[in-house]
Amino acid sequence: MLLFASSNYLGLATDQRVIAAAQKAAKEYGAGSGGSRLTTGTQQLHQALESDIAEFLGAEDSIFFATGYQANLSTIAAVAGPDTLIISDELNHASIIDGARLAKAQVAVFPHGNLHELEQLLASRVQPHTLIVSDGLFSMHSTYADVAGIQSLATRYQAWTMIDDAHAIGTVGKRGRGCVDLYGFLPDLLIGTASKALGAEGGFVVARQPIIHYLRNRARSYIFSTAPSPITVASVRAALHIVRDHPELVHQLQNNARFLSTVLTEAGLLSRPLDTPIIPVPIGHSAQALAVSEKLRDAGFFAPAIRYPTVKEEEAIIRITVMATHRTEQLRRLADELISILRSPR
Ligand SMILES: Cc1ncc(COP(=O)(O)O)c(C=O)c1O
Repeated sequence: MLLFASSNYLGLATDQRVIAAAQKAAKEYGAGSGGSRLTTGTQQLHQALESDIAEFLGAEDSIFFATGYQANLSTIAAVAGPDTLIISDELNHASIIDGARLAKAQVAVFPHGNLHELEQLLASRVQPHTLIVSDGLFSMHSTYADVAGIQSLATRYQAWTMIDDAHAIGTVGKRGRGCVDLYGFLPDLLIGTASKALGAEGGFVVARQPIIHYLRNRARSYIFSTAPSPITVASVRAALHIVRDHPELVHQLQNNARFLSTVLTEAGLLSRPLDTPIIPVPIGHSAQALAVSEKLRDAGFFAPAIRYPTVKEEEAIIRITVMATHRTEQLRRLADELISILRSPR
C-alpha cells in the first residue's frame, strides 16, 4: 500500500539521522524530562531547540510546546481575553477556535481569505484589542493566506496578527520557512508544528523576545504540563537541522507536488498545478468521494475521502498528501489510477 495521506511530508519521521539523535538523547538524558518547563523540566536541549527554531525563522525568540494544538490553545488564551476581538478565518484549525473559546474573547469570523470582510470587521469593532488569526497553508483546501494583506490591514487598524504555519514550515518557500520565505516578514505571532514536515511532535511560537517571555510566564500548557521529552526535542532539532541544511529536500517535495498536480490538472481533475504538498481533488458528493477512496485502496493507494463536516456538503474531496520520498513512478501510478477511476462510469 502506498501512503498518500501523511503529514510526514519530508519523510523525516523515519530518517536515520533523526532516529540516531533520538537514541543518543535517550541515552544521555533519559526517557522523560521529569518536570514542567518552569520547575525542573528545562534541559539544555530545550533551550538549544528554541534558539535554533528562532534562528531558522529569523525571529528574536521562540517557545516550544508539547503539541501544535497546545501552542495555539495556550498562546491565544494568554494573549487574548474578554476585551479582545479575535478575527478568525472561517477555515481556521480547531485549536485556534478552542483557544479563542478558552480566552473568553469575542470572536468574529470572516469568509475564507476574504480581506474585504476582514476590513469591515476591523472598521466596525468596539473592543480595545484585536487579534487577527489565520492558518498559513490551509490543510484541506491547500490555499495560502494573503499574509501581506492581513498584515497591512493589521497595521492600519492597530491589530495583532497570528499565523499558524503548521503545514507550511518545511514545505513552502525556497528554504521551507513558509510565510517567512513567501512574504519576507514575521507576523506578531508565528505558530509552527513539529508534527508535520519535521516528522516528530511538538509545536512552537516565534515572536519578539518580550512576547515569548510573556508566554513563558502565562501559557498554561507550558507551565502546568511536563516538558517534552529529550527524545522528542532531540528528534525535532535533528529534523530542523536537516531542513535548514538541505533545502533540496524541500525542493524535492515541491517538485513531487508540482509533478502530480500538473498531471491531474492536465487530466482536468484540478484547476491548476500546486507546489504545496496537500492536493485536494474535488469530487462532490460524500458517497462518491468514499467510493473513489475505496477504489484507490483496492488498487494499493491510501488517500482518504474528506467529507462534511470537515468540508462543506457536496464539496467532498480526495485529499492527497505528497511526500519528498515518493518516486515519480509512484506519483504517476497514483495519477493514472485516479484518472481512470474518475473517468469510468460510476
Ligand atoms: C493548522 C494546524 N494547526 C495546528 C495543528 C495541531 O498540531 P499538532 O498535531 O502538533 O497538535 C494542526 C494539526 O492537525 C493543524 O493542521
